[in-house]
Amino acid sequence: MLIDEIKRLKKEKNAVILAHFYQKDEIQDIADFVGDSLALSRTAANTDADIIVFCGVYFMAETAKILSPNKKVLLPKKNSLCRMAAMISYDDLKQYKEEHPDRMIVTYVNTRAEIKALSDIIVTSSNAEKIVKNFKDRKIMYVPDKNLGLYLKSKLGYDIDVWPGYCYIHEFLTRNDVKKLKTEYPDAKLLIHPEAPLDVLEQADFVGSTKQILDYATNSDAQEFIIGTDKGIIHALQKNNPNKKFHLLSKGLSCINMKRISLQDVYDALSKEQHEIKVPEDISKKAKVALDEMMRLS
Ligand code: 13P
Ligand code: SF4
Repeated sequence: MLIDEIKRLKKEKNAVILAHFYQKDEIQDIADFVGDSLALSRTAANTDADIIVFCGVYFMAETAKILSPNKKVLLPKKNSLCRMAAMISYDDLKQYKEEHPDRMIVTYVNTRAEIKALSDIIVTSSNAEKIVKNFKDRKIMYVPDKNLGLYLKSKLGYDIDVWPGYCYIHEFLTRNDVKKLKTEYPDAKLLIHPEAPLDVLEQADFVGSTKQILDYATNSDAQEFIIGTDKGIIHALQKNNPNKKFHLLSKGLSCINMKRISLQDVYDALSKEQHEIKVPEDISKKAKVALDEMMRLS
């Protein structure tokens, strides 16, 4: 059976399987560790394994490679790309920096290595607020997620400019979705990822990363929740809380690129050691400085 073969190969090759909460249920179930972007980066940085099989999107595997340059990092499906990460280019950010030398560049982890290399510090959805609080008196350019940037700006009141990027599944959540689901489930708590637009986030009982949403629901006395992020998280929510009820805020909440990896792809990646992530050394070194700064402050 495929699952037994994956387990055997994992042991034989001293490999570890990391998966994001947006992965298919069966991928989450075979993973050694399932987490949000921050926890996955930490795990990748600290693992003793020789091979990391990263079930997520490209920027996540690339971040793991930058943090663990001596490990072999494999992405089971080559074309698992985050669409938000494609919304900013090296040349455009370089030009922005030349035109705005007074603004520090705070960069969301959902970016390619060359963008991280141009940045002062990296953040994820779970540590962005905590990290940005260290820069109260600085002028900031937050790239590339305008929604998370505008959320931080409205919450902290700092001088934050935002890049016009967005996540295509969270961007299209509306107040109307909230109204509809709240009418259907009036007692449910509304938990939303900060990649959603500000007017939607303003309706939430809690705003947080995937892991923070999982922790909030698990620790809450409430029994019913409306979830404003990718449907993959429902698997972990339901596993941790078998007696609680979870409803997705919108049917459109499914990231196609996060759902590309199958068990066969994981097996193929392990057996052929294929789709290895490579990052040019100069870019990797610069990106690591910004990532290490994130680790230091989070
Ligand atoms: P988390 O860091 O909350 O896991 O989010 C990653 C992501 O891609 C959200 O769309
Ligand atoms: Fe990127 Fe959005 Fe998919 Fe997250 S859900 S990986 S931000 S496209």
